[in-house]
Amino acid sequence: MSTRKSLNNINRAIGGELEAEFTPKIKIEFPTIEKLFQEGLWFTSARGGLIAILNWLKEKNIIKSVLVPDYLCGSLILALEFTKLPYSLYPLDKDLRLEFDIRPHTAVLAINYFGFPNPMVDYIRNFVGKDIVLVEDCAQCLFPSTVNKIHPHYFYQIYSMRKFLGIPAGGCLMGSPKPNKNFPVEDCVPLWKGWTGRFFKKFYRNNIADNPNSELESIYLQLINEFEIYLDQNPDPKTLPEALLKLLPYQDFKKIFTKRRENYQALLNCLPKNIQPLFTFLPDDTCPMGCPVIIPEKINRDWLQGMLQEQFIYCPIHWPVPSQISERITPYSKNLYLNTLTLPIDQRYEISDMYRIADAIDKLVTR
Ligand SMILES: Cc1ncc(COP(=O)(O)O)c(C=O)c1O
Repeated sequence: MSTRKSLNNINRAIGGELEAEFTPKIKIEFPTIEKLFQEGLWFTSARGGLIAILNWLKEKNIIKSVLVPDYLCGSLILALEFTKLPYSLYPLDKDLRLEFDIRPHTAVLAINYFGFPNPMVDYIRNFVGKDIVLVEDCAQCLFPSTVNKIHPHYFYQIYSMRKFLGIPAGGCLMGSPKPNKNFPVEDCVPLWKGWTGRFFKKFYRNNIADNPNSELESIYLQLINEFEIYLDQNPDPKTLPEALLKLLPYQDFKKIFTKRRENYQALLNCLPKNIQPLFTFLPDDTCPMGCPVIIPEKINRDWLQGMLQEQFIYCPIHWPVPSQISERITPYSKNLYLNTLTLPIDQRYEISDMYRIADAIDKLVTR
């Protein structure tokens, strides 16, 4: 445990949705990102990209069902339901037992959890061909290590820029062959809410955050939330308006990559001993989305989340158990659903903020 004290204002929020942030000049130093802008099909969200490809493969009689891990985000289940394709679950455990059959005409989804490479992707790659399709879910992963590999046909990736950048919309589908049809352009009204919420949050953070004002906070929270609800209720693939797509590259990707890694490493070094990170090693090319930790049952994850919130430290849960599959999940995944808490490490924060998080947890779990 670190003895260093955080230097920042303890009323300043850590965590929560990213606010709008742009940089005036574009210099993308990451081949992954450049490739997305050159070759990707852009939608409002990653789930739009997933539905677009699954529906198209279904229409072409290439797939008849989908196989997904039993630890996943509920929004993916909604997307699967929207396609009306039957789906089944494969178990996830720490040794990644790969003992299940993949039937022909199946799309298999493998998730790069929290931005870390998933060995399952390389395993399933071996089966990819006309009868078996791989969708690598990079929604939590802006800079995946698989980008420099040559991908076979029927190997797809979905991305969700909105999880890493201060933008509400931006999901990308990579891979070939791609659907050769036009999708409707996203509706401006919900987009307006999402963007205004993020811009107002930026204004709040810069000008008001040191003296919190809950009424003003609730304005941007409501706008951001309404857009998320819209996405859940309207999962059909919609194209990202061109003007918004043009804005996306104006981001300091180097800062995003570097800060997240520095913060992650700092947290690894100063977390209390009884709080176990899900990933104890940060590979060189990995840019984490957050720092997932397993909270021992006797501490109680939900209690800890609430206590941290009282100190303005907002830690999301990835994920609540999706009700549609709650009876079918295996013990390893159940433990992840019930006991994982994601600590914020994003580009808005400094190492001193990581000390503040670790100190707060330490005081709560050792008292
Ligand atoms: C692993 C994973 N895949 C896909 C998605 C969907 O991304 P989007 O919200 O851009 O549709 C999420 C959303 O949280 C996710 O966590």
